Amino acid sequence: MCGIIGITGTSVVTDRLVDGLKRLEYRGYDSSGVAILDDRVIKRERAEGKIKMLEARLGAHPIDGQTGIAHTRWATHGVPNETNAHPHLSGRVCVVHNGIIENFLDIRQELSHHEFVSETDTEVIAHLVDEALSAGLPPIDAFSQSLKKLKGAYALGLIIDGEDNRIFCARAGSPLAIGVGENEMYLGSDALALAQLTSNLIYLEEGDWAVLTPESYEIFDVNDKAVTRPVTIISGGPAMAEKGNYRHFMLKEIYEQPETITRTLENYIDEFKHAPNLPHELDFTDIDRIILVACGTASYAGMVAKYWFEQIAGIPVDVDIASEFRYRQPVLSQKALFIAISQSGETADTLAALRYCKNNGVKTAALVNVMTSTMAREADIALPINAGPEIGVASTKAFTSQLTALAAITLGAAVSKGVLSAARQEALIKSLIKMPRQVKDALELDGAIEAMAFDFSKAKNAFYLGRGSQVPIAFEGALKLKEISYIHAEGYAAGELKHGPIALIEDGTPVVVLAPFDALFEKTISNLQEVVSRGASIILITDVAGAQHIGDMVKNIIIMPTAHDFTAPIITTIAVQLLAYHSAVHLGTDVDQPRNLAKSVTVE
Ligand code: M6R
Repeated sequence: MCGIIGITGTSVVTDRLVDGLKRLEYRGYDSSGVAILDDRVIKRERAEGKIKMLEARLGAHPIDGQTGIAHTRWATHGVPNETNAHPHLSGRVCVVHNGIIENFLDIRQELSHHEFVSETDTEVIAHLVDEALSAGLPPIDAFSQSLKKLKGAYALGLIIDGEDNRIFCARAGSPLAIGVGENEMYLGSDALALAQLTSNLIYLEEGDWAVLTPESYEIFDVNDKAVTRPVTIISGGPAMAEKGNYRHFMLKEIYEQPETITRTLENYIDEFKHAPNLPHELDFTDIDRIILVACGTASYAGMVAKYWFEQIAGIPVDVDIASEFRYRQPVLSQKALFIAISQSGETADTLAALRYCKNNGVKTAALVNVMTSTMAREADIALPINAGPEIGVASTKAFTSQLTALAAITLGAAVSKGVLSAARQEALIKSLIKMPRQVKDALELDGAIEAMAFDFSKAKNAFYLGRGSQVPIAFEGALKLKEISYIHAEGYAAGELKHGPIALIEDGTPVVVLAPFDALFEKTISNLQEVVSRGASIILITDVAGAQHIGDMVKNIIIMPTAHDFTAPIITTIAVQLLAYHSAVHLGTDVDQPRNLAKSVTVE
């Protein structure tokens, strides 16, 4: 949610800043801007729309220098236009910001003698620091004292006109990293932003602020005490966010799943012993309840895991949407285990839920893709999913890796509770080991699904139905379709439809039914009949046995590889991902950067 990059060095920076912005574009893409210190003078260019608009602007009005900050925006306060685009300028001070300054109206009031030009919360930061400079404070004090007046969340970078090459930066609530180079220092929202520039990163901690010069960095904590923070060496390098020959990152990431699931399994399964292999800190012996908290797609992974933990390990599970969790004042037990599920590890509400539990003495774990994220660092136990960078805003490979990790963790929990027979353990582990091959086979259906998506994409509304652990996959299918194709879609438990939503079914309404041939198959098919008799047009996602059973009752059938009931939700996921992807492509939407969205939601 908003991307920040900064460079202070001894050679020119504009092109590299813009390149970094492109890598950060997944965090927000409604406007962008760059500000440069050119011979101690600030020059700034901004543009509404994607980074390519900024590039065009810079082509027409080139600016360059040895120090600069840049920003790509996901609007919170103020419409996405050039005036509201960052960097914001007041007097000598120019700032880029990710987060929300909650007391910005109070500060605007306090500085009513200043002229505010944008509708943003961010602009007050520039005015505050400029006011302090005008009062005669040296830059470092003007910056640190201004930070004390801010309430809310921020990651920010700031340059000052008339000053030598220096960037001031700070974080509270939103992630920010310093990159260490040779005669050059960097600032970035995440490792991807700086991948081309350095592999040496320092993650600022809550309340930290810092001053970067080409040769040095100084970090201070929330009490202005000089501190040292560890340097993390990031692997992966510049290639980690390339699209290769794929048309979209989303498609590439869908196709990576046999490999990413394998990587996840390697971490949680001992393939030789055919046993779960969990980190020793993840001990379920005394755990009597699991709390799974997440947002969006990650929350659906939690919903599937509830079926698994309860049915296989016998441990009761609460699944909460992170934005509600702390505000409903949940009853917490010291014997509970809290697991945050998050691709980015930065989602503001999920992070707040984790902190809430930690502060209340609950043991916390974070199941994340980004192991350098705030959640991974703050949780008692960091659990990687190893899916590799996910750039498409629509989550795909991270979801199936979250599910894979949770499936294996369920088995580990069941073993430590002593409720898993050797035969059942063997069958379930085998079903996990078979998954990468089954996902590969499922991807062979791409062409058939693409053909079905042609008619499907003409719909204005669609429904997804499932039962049991397929219900969350119905939610996920509907979310995927909504976010990238803009077709209105809803997922429902198949048995729930007749309690209201069935009123929306009319001639031709597409209904995607997820029904592998399991114990609930017959019941799901009864629900399918109910909508068919009201005119629905069905796409049935099933397996070989399900297809044989249904005969020619349904025209559009996607026959997935036959999987164990345990892993079937992961396999059906591939079909709903491809259906959404091809629908969006048919409609010509911006698949990797759908409107109004951002990959990493670091505001509440
Ligand atoms: O990074 P996180 O997993 O915490 O993100 C959670 C959601 O914002 C995310 O899953 C979102 O719903 C995706 N855009 C769905 O495709």
